Amino acid sequence: MDVQNTLRDREPQARKPFGSRNVHIPLLLLLSVSMQYCSTSKPTTSVEPVKTVENPVSYAAQIRPIMVQKCTPCHFPEKGRKKMLDTYEATQKNIDDILYRVQLPADHGKYMPYEGKKEALTAEEIKLLKDWLAQRMPQ
Ligand code: HEC
Repeated sequence: MDVQNTLRDREPQARKPFGSRNVHIPLLLLLSVSMQYCSTSKPTTSVEPVKTVENPVSYAAQIRPIMVQKCTPCHFPEKGRKKMLDTYEATQKNIDDILYRVQLPADHGKYMPYEGKKEALTAEEIKLLKDWLAQRMPQ
């Protein structure tokens, strides 16, 4: 209430010295400039299928090295007793299970890497997996 009253009180005073039409020209210019920005940025976002990717993640560059480091020998052919996770296809197919297991508490029966035989995935590595999934798992 107080604020509205003060505004109402000030308005007529404030308008007097700027009453001429010229004052509005810079305002209109400013408006049209900002409208231009809006109209140029809109098509770019709507044309792209995915939001602009800031940190592109690929299987070959980031995901496979993590898997090799943390999921061998059990899921890579060296020993190969468990379900193989040594290819792009296998990783892509099992991504939900992989993400689920690496984020479990370390004492959970389904936690991976199995029984803490390898170092846990870091928060960064988990984020990479999530980003990779969000980016539709590029090869
Ligand atoms: C020391 C061996 C070992 C390591 C290292 C290991 N796992 Fe496993 N993994 C297993 C065993 C044993 C099972 C089967 C038991 C189970 O289902 O919990 C398994 C099961 C899985 C499964 C379910 C599919 C299946 O094979 O039954 C997934 C998915 C999985 N692991 C992902 C991973 C990921 C991702 C890593 C690396 C971050 C990893 N594992 C590291 C031993 C390992």
